[in-house]
Amino acid sequence: VSCYVMWRTVLRGISANLVQGKRNMSQSCLAGKVAIVTASTDGIGLAAAVALGRRGAHVVVSSRRQANVDRAVATLQGQDIKVTGTTCNVGKSEDREKLVQMTLDQCGGIDILVSNAAVNPFFGNIMDSTEAVWDKILDVNVKSAFLMTKLVVPHIEKRGGGSVVFVSSVAGYQPMPALGPYSVSKTALLGLTRALAPELAQSNIRVNCVAPGVIKTQFSSMLWKNEDVAEEFMKQTCIKRVGEPEEIGGVIAFLCSKDASYITGETITVTGGMNCRL
Ligand SMILES: NC(=O)c1ccc[n+]([C@@H]2O[C@H](COP(=O)([O-])OP(=O)(O)OC[C@H]3O[C@@H](n4cnc5c(N)ncnc54)[C@H](OP(=O)(O)O)[C@@H]3O)[C@@H](O)[C@H]2O)c1
Repeated sequence: VSCYVMWRTVLRGISANLVQGKRNMSQSCLAGKVAIVTASTDGIGLAAAVALGRRGAHVVVSSRRQANVDRAVATLQGQDIKVTGTTCNVGKSEDREKLVQMTLDQCGGIDILVSNAAVNPFFGNIMDSTEAVWDKILDVNVKSAFLMTKLVVPHIEKRGGGSVVFVSSVAGYQPMPALGPYSVSKTALLGLTRALAPELAQSNIRVNCVAPGVIKTQFSSMLWKNEDVAEEFMKQTCIKRVGEPEEIGGVIAFLCSKDASYITGETITVTGGMNCRL
């Protein structure tokens, strides 16, 4: 009997180790990778940083305000994630350069860029939007996404390849009422993804995009805090709730992982089943 018990214990131990080993493998699939996530001190960016970090990446978080950076760094450290933080307003070239240089100095290279920052300074009829509005929206939402990519690509190339992910929106497929210029900027990111993918494939860099639906963050609060507005949006979804930032973060981490090694130039809509078609 004691021999039988001993063998059963040994076999249990082996199978438990196998399961644990598998779990560790999937959890550490980004071990040794360095990931820059812009606008990552809250909402979707922070969730993406957590998802990448949990898979073993060293994440570099940033946003405009130092207090927000400090809070995000503490949150990630609390989850045993390797993290570095700095301020970076993606609309400023000196800030973009500082972010990249700091990453190189402190992490030794770059493998992943998640370009997540966006602003929306305008609500109303598109015909009332001004040149200043368009300059701001296109500078931050589109140009900085490209210019960040241009800055990191030579460094990702040095590592033998990697991944870029842009954060677009369901509004990029169907402009949202009162959000015309913002929606157009998000459509541009679908084009940017497709324009970059063939060129960067030559450097073993995949370029993809995520288009979230209505996700529970500060940025979209006017869409889900007001019950009538929220109900109107829910009519367009199959899954009758707003999404959580983690539900976008996981998809971003998937796109950066080896599991997505044959996916490039693609936009994944994560909308609870909204109709997304250009
Ligand atoms: N929430 C949604 O329903 C939804 C849907 C579709 C797409 N999206 C897209 O998802 C992305 C993230 O939005 P979110 O909902 O997660 O927003 P959020 O929760 O309000 O977080 C915004 C983050 O961006 C930072 N930020 C703002 N402007 C910045 C700038 N110029 N440079 C660098 N960082 C900046 C903020 O920190 P600081 O204030 O410290 O800068 C904060 O960390 C955006 O591209 C948005 O268009 C969101």
